[in-house]
Amino acid sequence: MSLTIDRLEEEFQAKIDAGHNIEPKDWMPEKYRKTHIRQISQHAHSEIVGMLPEGNWITRAPSLRRKVALLAKVQDEAGHGLYLYSATETLGISRDELFEQLHSGKAKYSSIFNYPTLSWADIGAIGWLVDGAAIINQVMLTRTSYGPYARAMVRICKEESFHQRQGYEIMLTLCRGTQVQKDLAQDALNRWWWPSLMMFGPRDADSTHTEQSMKWKIKRKTNDELRQQFIDITVPQAEFLGLTVPDPDLKWNEERGHYDFGEIDWDEFWQVVKGNGPCNKERLDARRSAYENGAWVREAAMAYAEKQEQKRLAEVG
Ligand code: 3HC
Repeated sequence: MSLTIDRLEEEFQAKIDAGHNIEPKDWMPEKYRKTHIRQISQHAHSEIVGMLPEGNWITRAPSLRRKVALLAKVQDEAGHGLYLYSATETLGISRDELFEQLHSGKAKYSSIFNYPTLSWADIGAIGWLVDGAAIINQVMLTRTSYGPYARAMVRICKEESFHQRQGYEIMLTLCRGTQVQKDLAQDALNRWWWPSLMMFGPRDADSTHTEQSMKWKIKRKTNDELRQQFIDITVPQAEFLGLTVPDPDLKWNEERGHYDFGEIDWDEFWQVVKGNGPCNKERLDARRSAYENGAWVREAAMAYAEKQEQKRLAEVG
């Protein structure tokens, strides 16, 4: 007798509750599969789109050392996108479909990458704050219940910590430099602080997916918990730099053992998520033209692979 869906779902939840990973060939509720395609592909899109604001400064890095570190970081992000697109494909969706969802504007990517990089200090702030926030989220995701996603995170987190460190070192160098350099660092912190807090998503009370994602151990911590963790770690780092976090309500709360902080501008968040941020159009235009300009590379690689396959089949007869 084929197991009823209820029984299959019960066994699935018991597996999750016991802390087992779900693998591609395991039975899974359609909603579990769909939410992973949604989240992992948006994560992959974020990695690829995230290359654009930083790539903007590769030719303008202030020294060869800074250029090499930034080049390495941007290349890492491409690799992160590759792992995550591959993890998404284990759920039965093709790479071409994923790109179509991004290029058509159907799929989301992280709001943070819709802000402009106006000075070299922004590259420091992105490494320190954006990769710092990504690490907080991604370390949690190394324990997410879907095996391929969790395993991709282990490799990504190792590289992410280099990203965060090189960003913080840029900020430290600027803060120990001239007053102009320190002002650049403060200006970058002023512009990147709040959008970095928005990376963790809406408040738990306004989150569509958090409750179910916690039940399925897709998330091990909620949006607000991760955001608070990021703030508690990052504020002392800003103080060490001698910079002021642009939040007049930021204050250590001894009783809570956390920083209290001001209200996030959720109108700005949803405007950027909906496509009305400072750079949304520029980012999607860049991705579309890169995809079109790269068509000949894909065709050549596919033609070569096909020729190799024909040669192999001819050899085995
Ligand atoms: N930007 C854009 N959309 C966002 C968002 C953000 N910062 N935060 C939330 N959203 C969207 C969600 O996608 C969802 O929309 P959808 O149903 O159409 O997909 C809606 O807002 C409601 O939000 P929820 O909190 O209910 O959604 P999630 O449960 O998916 O939580 C998340 C949001 C915490 C971002 C989660 O998706 C997640 O952990 N994703 C994986 C990590 C990730 O994508 N990080 C992005 C940055 S990657 C990066 O920084 C790379 C580094 O190398 C620099």
